[in-house]
Amino acid sequence: MNTRDAAPNAPSTLHWAREGADAGSISLRDWLAHLAKTGRVATIDKPVALEHELAAIAKRLDGSRAAFFTRPGKHAMPVVSGFMAKRAWIAEALGIEEAGLLARFSAAVAAPLASKTVGREDAPCQQVVHMSGIDLHALLPIPTHSEHDNGPYITAGLVIARNPRTGVQNVSINRIQVHGRDRMAILLLPRHLYAFQRAAEEAGEALDVAVAIGVDPLTMLASQAITPIDCDELEIAGALHGAPLPVVRCMTNGVHVPASAEIVIEGRILPNVREPEGPFGEFPKYYSAKEAREVIEVTAVTHRRDPIFHTIVPAEMEHLLLGAIPREATLLAHLQRSHPSVKDVHLSVGGVCRYHLWVQFDKKREGEAKNVILCAFGAHYDIKQVVVVDTDVDVHDPAEIEWAIATRFQADRDLVVVAGAQGSPLDPSTTVGLPEDAPAHLQGVSAKMGLDATRPVAYPAHVFTRVRIPGQDTVDLDALIASDNGALDAYLACNHG
Ligand SMILES: Cc1cc2nc3c(=O)[nH]c(=O)nc-3n(C[C@H](O)[C@H](O)[C@H](O)COP(=O)(O)O)c2cc1C
Repeated sequence: MNTRDAAPNAPSTLHWAREGADAGSISLRDWLAHLAKTGRVATIDKPVALEHELAAIAKRLDGSRAAFFTRPGKHAMPVVSGFMAKRAWIAEALGIEEAGLLARFSAAVAAPLASKTVGREDAPCQQVVHMSGIDLHALLPIPTHSEHDNGPYITAGLVIARNPRTGVQNVSINRIQVHGRDRMAILLLPRHLYAFQRAAEEAGEALDVAVAIGVDPLTMLASQAITPIDCDELEIAGALHGAPLPVVRCMTNGVHVPASAEIVIEGRILPNVREPEGPFGEFPKYYSAKEAREVIEVTAVTHRRDPIFHTIVPAEMEHLLLGAIPREATLLAHLQRSHPSVKDVHLSVGGVCRYHLWVQFDKKREGEAKNVILCAFGAHYDIKQVVVVDTDVDVHDPAEIEWAIATRFQADRDLVVVAGAQGSPLDPSTTVGLPEDAPAHLQGVSAKMGLDATRPVAYPAHVFTRVRIPGQDTVDLDALIASDNGALDAYLACNHG
């Protein structure tokens, strides 16, 4: 991967940036101002309980308007949720059409832009600093989301850490349970942050981290890029912005964080310390069990003078889409390496934007769709069910996918099943038959199912020809339809009785 001076396809300015702002330094505030101006923010100015009520309201507004709470719990600090809860909004934030989302994201991953370090005077996220007597519950309006959650959780924090071996930064979003004044438990699935923590722990050391809350939609999206280790996702954020992202060094450790973040919690993941975390309502819309997890000891909290706290309601559209778009970009590139005739992919909302992959494919030879299915299973362990369709099927429309399965798929001939592969440990159906305290290496074993819903390459005339009415897409309805139904009314009146 190259760090270049300019990212391909990056817009020179984002239309929603405030006057005069350089592309790198635009913030969550710019995006919220744009959403508000276009009628997509609901302000809730009545007092709202942090326990459940705030999340319930945000959930009801999910996908239609972002929710902005001015009086969450006893706090003066507002909370926002749901500001990137539609594909179209995310494309708009990138300054492109929805159809270009995956190509734009892939281009940024391929050509990241090095961040620009700024001093504290140019870093709004360090306008206010708390270094002693920290009480997270008193400082921040941290909601409790779902019915059986084990208390308040930070769900929209970018966790930033350095590889102890190479010094390169990594960014991920992790659920963080706040169970003490300055103590939090974090879920580390076995990816980059997990690898950093284990490397530090083996050396008997803590891992310095920062949790940045309240960043712009492009930086949020970049945090979810699936990349090789030692790729700093903040550089992908820079490429998405079209300008280097300003970052500032933390006050109590060497991690660099987005300077325009609203809030930063600095801390260290302690070696050889685990504390109970969970249950927590997760993206598959089920609870993760209470388990012993790694612990962050907080060393400082910094924030803007008037910060906004961001929370993601788990399993709602903001959560699902943040995972979907970067994954789709990676999966498409992975499939196209072996099968250039793969045209598009979609992770469906019904499959929690993780488990069900739909692939659009320009089939040239019989059997090839099954190779595509097998390739998809290998691309990410979360992929559980794959449907491959032809290029005349809209891969983003669930009704079209079901139609293709209904009319082009035969289970005895077109079904691929692989038993006993690695799947998502958060899929509750993988737990059937396992003892409740099953060790991690036994968790998440899953069957994979692929459906080849493509038609044969060659078929007798009309058998697989889709019904189409000439003119259906081009007739000018505005020119043809009368402004009222007077003709019908007159007809009905004279023929009555
Ligand atoms: C809202 C949200 C919550 C997430 N929670 C977790 C989590 O608790 N633990 C985890 O390992 N990954 C979680 N993820 C996924 C990671 O952030 C994501 O896979 C990331 O790309 C991993 O980065 P890495 O591969 O650089 O470590 C979450 C993603 C989102 C969007």
